[in-house]
Amino acid sequence: MAKIFIGVAWPYANGPIHAGHMAGCNLPPDIFRKFHIMRGNEVLMVSGSDMHGTPVTVKAEKEGMEPGELAQKYHLMNVKAFKDFGVEFDEYHSTDDATHIETVQKLFLRLHENGFLYEKEMELPYCSKCDRTLPDRYVEGECPFCHFQNARGDQCEECGKLMDPDMLIGLRCITCGTTPEFVKRTHFFFKLSAQEEPLKKWMSDKDYWRTHVLNFSRMYLENGLKDRPVTRDTTYGIKIPLPGHDDKRIYVWFEAFMGYYTMAVKWAAGDQKKLDSFWKNPECRHYYFLGKDNVPFHTIFWPAVIKSLDWGLNLPYDVPANAFLKFGGQQFSKSRGVSVDIKDIVAKYDPDAMRYYMSTTMPESRDTDFTWEDFITRNNSELVATYGNFVHRGLSFTRKNFGRIPEPKSPGNEEKEVEARIAQANHDAAEYLEKCEFKNGIKVLMELARFGNQYIDTKAPWSQIKQDRDACGTTLYYSLWISRALAVMMAPYLPFSSQKLWESLGEDGKVLAASWEDALKQPKVGFELSEPVPLFKRLDTLEPVKVTEPAKEENNMISSGLDKLDLRVAEVKTAGDHPNADKLLVLTVDVGDGVRQLCAGLKKHYTVEEFIGKKIIVMCNLLPAKLRGIMSEGMLLAASEGEVVSLLAPPQDAKPGDRIDGTSAAPQMTINDFATFQLQIGQDRNAEYVSPDGQHHPFKVSGTSVGTDKNVGPGSKIK
Ligand code: MF3
Ligand code: ZN
Repeated sequence: MAKIFIGVAWPYANGPIHAGHMAGCNLPPDIFRKFHIMRGNEVLMVSGSDMHGTPVTVKAEKEGMEPGELAQKYHLMNVKAFKDFGVEFDEYHSTDDATHIETVQKLFLRLHENGFLYEKEMELPYCSKCDRTLPDRYVEGECPFCHFQNARGDQCEECGKLMDPDMLIGLRCITCGTTPEFVKRTHFFFKLSAQEEPLKKWMSDKDYWRTHVLNFSRMYLENGLKDRPVTRDTTYGIKIPLPGHDDKRIYVWFEAFMGYYTMAVKWAAGDQKKLDSFWKNPECRHYYFLGKDNVPFHTIFWPAVIKSLDWGLNLPYDVPANAFLKFGGQQFSKSRGVSVDIKDIVAKYDPDAMRYYMSTTMPESRDTDFTWEDFITRNNSELVATYGNFVHRGLSFTRKNFGRIPEPKSPGNEEKEVEARIAQANHDAAEYLEKCEFKNGIKVLMELARFGNQYIDTKAPWSQIKQDRDACGTTLYYSLWISRALAVMMAPYLPFSSQKLWESLGEDGKVLAASWEDALKQPKVGFELSEPVPLFKRLDTLEPVKVTEPAKEENNMISSGLDKLDLRVAEVKTAGDHPNADKLLVLTVDVGDGVRQLCAGLKKHYTVEEFIGKKIIVMCNLLPAKLRGIMSEGMLLAASEGEVVSLLAPPQDAKPGDRIDGTSAAPQMTINDFATFQLQIGQDRNAEYVSPDGQHHPFKVSGTSVGTDKNVGPGSKIK
């Protein structure tokens, strides 16, 4: 059993936690913690709300509140957001916690005794109109590096560079806009310079760090370390534990990172051995999770403080900092009105849907982009269509035909392969998780779900049930085995759905209490299954706020929704440019009972000439809609794989008006309803419909398959 300490950057209590924080700082350590617990390791993960400093006082002044009151409000809000999102800490408190304050003061005195803190006169901006000195965020100006106009006195929000007020161009007081003068004040300085060489030595074997973290930190050291002031002119914050400094407080950053240690002190509750087992134990690895703007604080300043304390406390082992998750290319920022708050996300969506999206979009090595469209697409085409669908197929078919988890009476080579795949995924995902490569980890697991779907497709239990009940039972048993393995291994990523799946397979207790290797264990033969509820919900493609229920499962195994579609062969009569839209073409097509007009977004993929005379498949019972002023009375179907977009190709001899077998002259539906139908290219590269129970229904016209006219691979979506 190993010991793992996890420090998570303390979010300022000046606003709600947003998607950028979550994907960058909080979800990764939560996955990491859950995984290590399943590995049988002892984990201590700590963080808390960063209550002090100008980020809070500036906001409080704006909102007309006391800073402490404002910070408390957001602290409580964020505690709840973490809980609702499934993010768990061993200790999460705040920097106004009594143990924190007391311990910070102890550390301050220790550094003072060791000669690492000294008093020195410095120049500070002072606003004559507001009659106060202006620390950190009380001044703004132009960043000398990236020339962002509203860089703050502590850091440029745009390029991330740390700032001193006197570096800013066109310095101004944020309250009244006055250009400050500079006055002399005495403050405590931390002797960072003394740690330059020791830190270089310490960092010399950190080649396993993420490249961007290592490069940044080494460059920072190469540029030379200067002593930094660590107290401020304010009466809000932690008091200096030395007489005669009532008008100053400890700088917010200097005390906040001490929180990693103070929370362990709180956790140990007076038991020195317990505390030391995490903080003075060379065997215990310390990981810190944070955004890239916080890197120097965790790879330089905090390690320098740890060294200067000279207590033999553990230094960081790894600092897997993330870049930023942006929102439509912009940084999440309350002040700029760009924000998606976790509290709003959990009010609308299953947390696992968003945890899945964030796990696949984490900015591990560079900035990534959050978009609602991408969230919906990944939810519908990956989480629902691959993982959820796989699980649902196994459970519902088993329940319908066996009632209970059947005995595997005739395992063969394919079943050996299933076991081998589970073991391989168990090994590979663990390797990635150990290395904090969370995106790669979940890829391995989704690959297993994809394999599960292929396994079912190949074995075709719906045919097996008619010929060989035992063989069918074996297939289902092994598919449930994969589901069980996924429940265990997905648990760090998707704890809520894993728990549901775990219970539907008759397993007791919390899935997170299972061990990682438990993923290899067999499902419970004989367990009576109850009506399965889909693990995930399809989301509406157009309005992310609205959530549509999954299409209801039909009793009939053969037809399950295809008859709600009116899919017909059509022949293109005319084609031309849309007058108001660059990407659209306007077509008239013969659909058998008349000619209709359609707008199609395929201009990049087919020329007007290619269209004319072509036979295509058209969805005929869509509610007509105006697209940029032109009426569209149906939708042609095309499959896409990456950049390649291909029209569906009806059989040679099909005539306009011929229907795809199983479809009918059904009532009209909205585009959103239509989007809940999963149409794709099947294993045989022909078009098919996958019903909610996981059955595949090949598109045929009078018994002949519908293919594509360009090469697109299995699994390509049809729209
Ligand atoms: N509150 C800081 C921020 O949001 C992070 C503090 S991290 C700690 O950028 F090291 F101080 F804990
Ligand atoms: Zn800048």
